Amino acid sequence: MKHGITIAFVNHKGGVGKTTSVHQIGASLVQKGFKVLLVDNDPQANLTFMNGWNEENETTIYDAIAEGNENLPVYEISENLFLTPSELDYASLELQLPTDPLGHFALRTILENQKKEYDFVLIDNPPTLGVFVSNALFAADKVVIITESSSLSAKGLQVVVDLIQKLKKGANKSLELLGLVLTKTSNYVVRRDTADWIREQYDVFETGIRQTVSLEEAAALQQNIFDYNPKSSGAEDYQNLTNELLKKLNIKPIKGKKKAVKK
Ligand SMILES: Nc1ncnc2c1ncn2[C@@H]1O[C@H](COP(=O)(O)OP(=O)(O)O)[C@@H](O)[C@H]1O
Ligand SMILES: [Mg+2]
Repeated sequence: MKHGITIAFVNHKGGVGKTTSVHQIGASLVQKGFKVLLVDNDPQANLTFMNGWNEENETTIYDAIAEGNENLPVYEISENLFLTPSELDYASLELQLPTDPLGHFALRTILENQKKEYDFVLIDNPPTLGVFVSNALFAADKVVIITESSSLSAKGLQVVVDLIQKLKKGANKSLELLGLVLTKTSNYVVRRDTADWIREQYDVFETGIRQTVSLEEAAALQQNIFDYNPKSSGAEDYQNLTNELLKKLNIKPIKGKKKAVKK
């Protein structure tokens, strides 16, 4: 029996590390022995690219949602790691879905049974708070907000938190905000001050993801950070973040019970 926990990663700002986090947390969970499905819910298909998926003629999330299929198409990327790819055409549903009375629940309906085949379903999202994100938040059990530790990113956070609170009161009462993750942290005073401010205002994961070019290089080479540069701060941080995530969920790793790396 699998855990079947669905986690949406959101922020209406782009470039903050959502896709990177889904990719690396997914890889880390697989290393710990879990079966993971990554759902690319963004027409920009960055997560699809990062996982090295280049098949043009296979079905994607677009086909499944547009045609109201019973299941998402799922492809095995490596042992225990699965991907539902996206494609640019998916963008066309942004206007179409809201005209359907059940358009905000398409992903929830389709994932309801399928999620039980996996320990974790991680949903990457576009940088909006539109219909794709509401679909993800209705489908999800948990939500994580990814935010850069820059002052401009900090300003918009309340909008996302408010949306989640609103959904919790109505359409998805069991939705739980696991916390915010600070990415691209550094010792620049302005970043440190912003990070401190965000930590004072919100419930933030203790582990931040330090700024490192290794994560960008790994993405460009379509590799996860643990294969590309296991000694990098990116590998250390994402491993620690995944441990923290599991702890919050009260789930023990199945294998590779490595101690969290000390900073
Ligand atoms: N901790 C980090 N340090 C340095 N670069 C990062 C870090 N996290 C993400 N990036 C880079 O920042 C860019 C945006 O990240 P991405 O995950 O695509 O953001 P989003 O999905 O929120 O738009 C990418 O080029 C990515 O490689
Ligand atoms: Mg992205």
